[in-house]
Amino acid sequence: MILGVETSCDDTCAAVVAHDGAIRSNVVASQGLLHARYGGVVPEIASRRHLELVDAVVADALERAGASLDDVDTVAVTRGPGLIGALLVGLSSAKALAAARGLPLAPVDHLAGHVLASTLGDDPIEPPFVSLVASGGHTFLARVERPPGYAVLGQTLDDAAGEAFDKGARLLGLGYPGGAALDRLARGADAEAFDFPRSLPGDGLDFSFSGLKTALLYKVRDLGEEEAERRRADLAAAYQRAIVDALDARARQAIERAGARRFAIGGGVAANSELRERITATCAELGVDLWVPDRALCTDNAAMIAAASRFTRALEYPEYLSLDASARVA
Ligand code: KG4
Ligand code: ZN
Repeated sequence: MILGVETSCDDTCAAVVAHDGAIRSNVVASQGLLHARYGGVVPEIASRRHLELVDAVVADALERAGASLDDVDTVAVTRGPGLIGALLVGLSSAKALAAARGLPLAPVDHLAGHVLASTLGDDPIEPPFVSLVASGGHTFLARVERPPGYAVLGQTLDDAAGEAFDKGARLLGLGYPGGAALDRLARGADAEAFDFPRSLPGDGLDFSFSGLKTALLYKVRDLGEEEAERRRADLAAAYQRAIVDALDARARQAIERAGARRFAIGGGVAANSELRERITATCAELGVDLWVPDRALCTDNAAMIAAASRFTRALEYPEYLSLDASARVA
């Protein structure tokens, strides 16, 4: 079995996954509340908290899997991109766990993890496929032929979709990170009550979300505090609709241009209920098979890191001791 460790941002994650993709455990210790009062993730606080939590989270993942380190033959860990101090905690822990038992270590790209989340479980997606990844830090469409590699077909030129959700949520007084709260607030509200811009830059498959939050800022200002508060749910619904429309439009174009037969979504924003419904309808209309991972496999987790590690060569001991974390996309 594979022990996965992921600490790229503010969630301390460990998972046990079998080589056939069966998930034995998937544990996430969220630091969300710790950072909420600062309105965003404070990197130094995140690293310290990872350090406090990582051993317990790994122990918990093993226990829930009914396994011990004796059952683990590979350790997989996120190497980047992410917050460098946060990544280093996971990487050092994974090195120590692997080295103590002479096990191989597989360094994994966090984004490949999101792209490949749908290769888990008893109905895994098979390449070739096209994947939409929308998270707090990244938004892109990718064509996957030989995992863990993927070709980026289009990406955001400014804010990520999750960032747009978080900034919108903050303007609506929903706290941080606000994507899931905005999703809940929007449920049942009138998405057509307000009109927000849908930006689809260029002829390619790129995204742009930075104008959207500015539009919301002005809208809230124009309405005034009281009226904006009263119409908060409609604002949330209309704002969410604009993000979902853009993601769906590009997904549709990517499927058509790539001639894809299989499509997957991933990343925290793939947990959004409206996006899940819309992409489901689009794929049904286009006759494309769709993989929508459980919400716990969309937001950051270590099972997807273990999943992606199955497609990379693991490094043997002591080769990996000098391995460094990488804040940027490798
Ligand atoms: O993939 P993820 O957990 O971490 C990154 O790699 O960034 O994504 C986190 C992002 C946050 O921006 C969060 O607000 C957003 O995913 N998110 C959602 C929902 N759940 C999480 N956005 C919209 N609707 C949701 N239900
Ligand atoms: Zn992520």
